[in-house]
Amino acid sequence: MEVESGDPLEEVASLIVRSSCNVALTGAGVSTASGIPDFRGPQGLWRMVDPEKFEISYFHDHPDEVWDLFVEFFLSTFNAKPNPAHYALAELEKLGKLCAVITQNVDMLHQAAGTRNVVELHGSLKDVICLQCGYRYPLSEALRQRTGGAPRCPKCGGVLKPDVVFFGEPLPRDALREAMMLAEMADVFIAAGTSLAVYPANQLPLIAKKRGAKLVVINAEETYYDFAADYVFRGNVEEVLPALVEKVKSMLF
Ligand code: APR
Ligand code: ZN
Repeated sequence: MEVESGDPLEEVASLIVRSSCNVALTGAGVSTASGIPDFRGPQGLWRMVDPEKFEISYFHDHPDEVWDLFVEFFLSTFNAKPNPAHYALAELEKLGKLCAVITQNVDMLHQAAGTRNVVELHGSLKDVICLQCGYRYPLSEALRQRTGGAPRCPKCGGVLKPDVVFFGEPLPRDALREAMMLAEMADVFIAAGTSLAVYPANQLPLIAKKRGAKLVVINAEETYYDFAADYVFRGNVEEVLPALVEKVKSMLF
């Protein structure tokens, strides 16, 4: 099927329909419509709080302060619901046209929307982990027990840390390996709602591109790798992604 409409969204839909492996990389921008602030946008978190406070070394030295900040700024995440951007990606997977969502988000909203293959590069808000004995238990429980400052391990009294990747921490090895593999396999690689400012996630689109994938960027603002993209859609993901999936559906059925 050849599309010569000159409509870029239609062209991308047609590429997606014809490819065997399409992969999406998402960032905080896919969750802003769910009421969760992003990091570097106009209302981003890093404009309200110094990102150095989320360095792992700072956490080790000031766990109580960081936990208080964490609860204050991530509270909106705990009751958030998926939005049309998450649902569109879940639908694309159901249509057999998305191999995986690689996400930098820790909010678990892709899973809540029904996506099955989600690779979490920066951990998630599901659990906390004891820095002393490695014991892991649900974040919700830690929050219930917490009276302020850092919650403590019920087993050894050590400081608990949210199981998310802080600056200066390595990424979960298996997730990174899987993400690299997916980037290498992709025919179409969609980076959505991410500024592509953060290493190593921001290398995935380049790896995909180098291996011959078409690179599609969907983001409200300019990203660091727009220059490498075959298609750039400057808009809201909760509008562009559903529109794209509608086009894919109309080509499939
Ligand atoms: N539609 C499209 N784009 C949006 C929307 C939206 N509804 N809302 C925000 N954006 C864009 C912003 O303009 C911004 O360019 O999403 C991008 C989000 O970029 P960042 O805030 O940098 O978030 P992200 O790319 O996920 O950050 C990566 O940095 O500090 C961290 O660990 C944190 O995982 C995060 C990582
Ligand atoms: Zn412990």
